[in-house]
Order: sequence, then C-alpha cells, then structure tokens
Amino acid sequence: MSLKQYLPFIKPFKQAFFITPVLVIIDVVCEVLQPRLMSDIVDVGIKNSDLPYVYRTGGLMVLLSVIAILANIGNIYYSSRASVGSVTHLRNAIFRKIQSFSFADIDRFSSASLSTRITNDTNILQQVLMMSMRLMFRAPFMLVFAVLLAITINAELALILAFSIPVLGGSIYYLLKKGLPYFAQMQQRLDRLNGIIQENLTNVRVVKSFVRQDYEKKKFGMANEELMEMAAKASGVVIMILPVMQLIMNLSIVAVVWFGGNKIIGDKMEVGQFMSFISYIIQILISLMMLSMTLMMLSRAAASSKRVLEVLDQTPSLTDGPEALRHHHVLMKGGIAFRQVWFRYNPDNPAYVLRDISFEIRPHSTVAIIGATGAAKSSLVQLIPRLYDATKGAVLIDGIPVKDYTLKELRGQIAMVLQKNELFSGTIYDNLRWGDPKASEEEMRQAAEIAQADAFIRSFPQGYHAVLGQGGVNISGGQKQRLCIARAILKKPKILILDDSTSAVDTATEMAIREGLKKYLTATTVIIIAQRISSIMHADQIIVLEDGQVVAKGTHEELLRESNPYQEIYYSQVYQTKENEEK
Ligand SMILES: Nc1ncnc2c1ncn2[C@@H]1O[C@H](COP(=O)(O)OP(=O)(O)OP(=O)(O)O)[C@@H](O)[C@H]1O
Ligand SMILES: [Mg+2]
Repeated sequence: MSLKQYLPFIKPFKQAFFITPVLVIIDVVCEVLQPRLMSDIVDVGIKNSDLPYVYRTGGLMVLLSVIAILANIGNIYYSSRASVGSVTHLRNAIFRKIQSFSFADIDRFSSASLSTRITNDTNILQQVLMMSMRLMFRAPFMLVFAVLLAITINAELALILAFSIPVLGGSIYYLLKKGLPYFAQMQQRLDRLNGIIQENLTNVRVVKSFVRQDYEKKKFGMANEELMEMAAKASGVVIMILPVMQLIMNLSIVAVVWFGGNKIIGDKMEVGQFMSFISYIIQILISLMMLSMTLMMLSRAAASSKRVLEVLDQTPSLTDGPEALRHHHVLMKGGIAFRQVWFRYNPDNPAYVLRDISFEIRPHSTVAIIGATGAAKSSLVQLIPRLYDATKGAVLIDGIPVKDYTLKELRGQIAMVLQKNELFSGTIYDNLRWGDPKASEEEMRQAAEIAQADAFIRSFPQGYHAVLGQGGVNISGGQKQRLCIARAILKKPKILILDDSTSAVDTATEMAIREGLKKYLTATTVIIIAQRISSIMHADQIIVLEDGQVVAKGTHEELLRESNPYQEIYYSQVYQTKENEEK
C-alpha cells in the first residue's frame, strides 16, 4: 500500500503538477515584495518629498498585484483541472476493481462501505488535492521569503520570531495530533450511516409492511447523531487552532510594537521599516496557519486514502489461476462432480456449511436438490460457477476442476437463476438481453415462451418494451421469477441452475416451464432446487441435503422406497395437500 499507486491517475495531469508550484512562487514573490515597497515609499519618497519616486514605486506595487492575480487565476485553473481529472480516473479504477470482486470480497467490505469509499472518500481526496496544490507550496515559500525579508530589515527585532514560531508550531502540532484520530472514526460512522440508508431503501417495502418506520427513523437518527458527535469533536479541536494562532499573532505584534517603538524613538529604525516589519510578521504567521491547514487536510486525506487503497489493494479472491490461463479449457458437455467438498463462508468461523459432499451429475441430465431451509442448498450450487470457492475438496466439470476454467468460460456456460434474483431498470428487452447481448427479438420471445413469460409480457400495453422499475418493482414476484428464467435460458447454457426459481408460480405454470426446458434444452444439464416434491419428482436424480450433508440420492421411486428423510418430506407434503383438498 503506497502513494505510488496514485501515479497512474496523476500522470495525465503532470503538466499541472509542474506549473502550479511555479505560479505559486510568482504569486508569493509579488506578495512578499509589497510591504518592502511600501516602506520605501514612506521612508524614501515621503521623507524626501520625492513625488515621482512615490508614483514609480506605487506603480510597481500595482503591477506586482496584477501579476499575482494572474498567477493565482492560473493556479486555480490548473489545480482544479488536475484534481478533478485525476480523481475521475481514480473513481473509474475503484469501480473496475469492485467489478472484479467475488461475493466473499464484497461481504468483507460491505456494499455500504464500498459506496462511501467510491463517493465520499474520493471526494475528500479531490478537495484536498486541489487545496494542497494551491496551499502546500505557498505556505513554506511565503514563510521563508517573509522571514528573510524581516531579518534584512532588522535582525534584532526578528528575534521575536525565534519565540513565536516554535510556540505556534508546537501548539498546532499538539492540536492536530489530538484531532486526527477523530477523522478516521468519522468516516467509519459515515459508513454505518450509509449502510442504514442502503438497507432501508432496498427493503423499503418490508419496512412499511411491518410499520417499522419509527424504529428505522430512530435507528437512523442515532447513527446520524453519532456521526455528528464525532464531526463536532473533530472540528472542535481543529477550530481551536484559529484562536490560538490569533493570540500568538497578537502577542507577537505587541512585542514588535514595544521593541520597535523604542527603536523608532531612539532613531534606530525608520517608520516605514517598522510598518513593513509588522506586515512580515503577519505574513509569516498566516503562512504558518496555512501550513497547519494543509497538514490537517493532508491527514484527513490520509484516512480517506487508506480506505481507497484498501479497495485497490484487495486482490480479488476469485481469479483465473495459472492453469486456467495456460490451457483455456472449453466447457464442452456439462457433467458435474463434487469430490469430498467441504465449504465455509468465513475462515474465522470454524463451522462448515457443507460437509464432505460427493456426487456425480451426468451431462444433459436433470438433477434436483431438496432439503429443509438452511440445509445449504444454495451454498452448494454457488460452488459450481465459482461464486465461492470450495474450502476443501474439488468441484469438477467434465473432469476438469472448476478452478482450471477461466471465470469467463465457466460463467459464460453456466446460467444461474439466483434465489434472490434481481432485474435492472430498463425495458424487458434490455433485461433479457443480459442473457445474450446479441439475441434477436425472436430469440428473446422464444426464451420467454419457454419460461411461460411470453403471455403476461404481451398483456402489457407496451409488451416487451414495458419499462421495469429498479429491481423490477412493478411486476409480480412470479412474473419476476419467470423473466429471470427467460434471461437464463437465453444464455443457451451448458449448465442451468434454478435455485428455488419457481417458488412464486403456481404448480401448473411450473409444470409447463419444466416441460419447456426438457423439450428445448436437450443439451443442457439442469439443476433444480425446490421445496415442493411435485416440482422435482421427475428429475433423473434427486439429492437430499440435510444440515450440509448429502443424506440420500437416487430417483424418486428409489428414494421413496429406501430413504427415510425423503419419505418424511414426501408424506408431509402429500398429507398437507390432501388436508387442503378436504377443506
Ligand atoms: N453469505 C453468507 N455468509 C455466511 N453464511 C452464510 C451466507 N449465506 C448463507 N450462509 C449460511 O449457510 C447456511 C446454509 O445457507 P443456504 O442459503 O445455503 O441454505 P438453503 O438450503 O439454500 O436454504 P433456503 O432453502 O432457505 O434457501 C445457513 O446456515 C446460512 O446461515
Ligand atoms: Mg437457498
């Protein structure tokens, strides 16, 4: 983790990073010369009643001001362009990185924290970059020039600075050291706040239906309050810097007036010199203040930078291995094998979600996985397209470990309808096209037909051009499931995984979908997860999961004869259905 990583983002603007310091020096030199010229006007021009000298020197002062203003404008232009530009590149890079993250990586950061990092933290970096390009050089240059000029005017009087600069520097250092840890905590609290907002908005329907608005408001209020508290603490400390500076500045001026006044009375110093000396004292102290502001901003940026670099430095936990890149295996048939697979989500939690799973699935067959909720059915199928990697053991497709396919090939050939599926805002066509960007309208219609979605899509006034809201809010749960299935079918996958994907459609429609799949996807291995036995009893093979373990596998008839757990599920469902019919 190092600042070097920012070089590629800064490089396109390197011109600006060279020009701004030069402009700053021009600006500072012009500004620092002003008191000197002023003192010449008083001590030479006015004293000798030399009017042309006064005009000449005054004209020079005006000229210097104009140059300073121009340099300053140039500085603002270049520093804004460079900072906005580099951070735009940076934001793109973070987004690209996040796209390469596995589910496990996103779990680790939390999506709320990622979104704060890509917006708020980069924003802070941008502001600080711009400010520091303008202030960082200015403060030290001004400090050095002003000290030098003050010494040339009167070295004795300049001794006052030998006291006030260290005192001021020390108190600024103390305050910054105290205030900085608060900034890091502030970002963390902002993360939390964002997390609450995100969760609330995604689940706004649940919140409303459980009438939990008051609770949510309270939760948000509390997080907001905590953020404010920390922000107040941080700025409280920082704001202290100003009065302390003011105090030291005024004390220094009083000291200059005291000692300098005595010198003027003793004829050892000119009035003009005295005036310019006070101006330099003020410039010196102001530049110290600027320096402290820059330091504060930089350390605030350091907190944000650390968070940004954490994202950029995260190596995606699921990548193409060397084997995959060497061979570029092609997924041909879609036979699947699990060999003693163990799996857990979190290395810190020793409990395995899947334990010692072994089974084979023949290419082009239909396999069902059944089991109680929490039995780890979804966890199991997620290992096939490598949404997660098995902790121990191997998952193979056509005899080749899934790790040895490139992710592009693997996921390109596997379509998965996730249990918690999402659609995107856009038309139905747009959403279906996710399955195959080049699909024709005819192909999309065909896929929708197999998924039993064509009829309801046609019933919309705009048909396939109907616009879905974010996440498909304006269609029913069962309609959403069928669109997701159509999207997956369109991919013409070698392996199709349906994780509880027909839970919200009625049994007749479900049967039609099943028959459609059988008829059209003859060269596809299909894995179905379902709760209803009726949905899976026709499968070539049924795998019964219980608490992360395979307790039985076989056809419906075999299991009904031999497997206790399967019989239990079967009879409980048959019994229930009969009971419902009698009612
Ligand atoms: N992302 C995750 N991180 C950590 N633990 C998880 C995660 N997802 C699931 N689990 C845990 O893994 C176990 C199995 O969950 P899984 O979702 O695979 O069950 P399931 O059989 O699909 O259940 P359901 O029928 O309700 O969908 C559960 O105990 C759950 O707490
Ligand atoms: Mg599940």
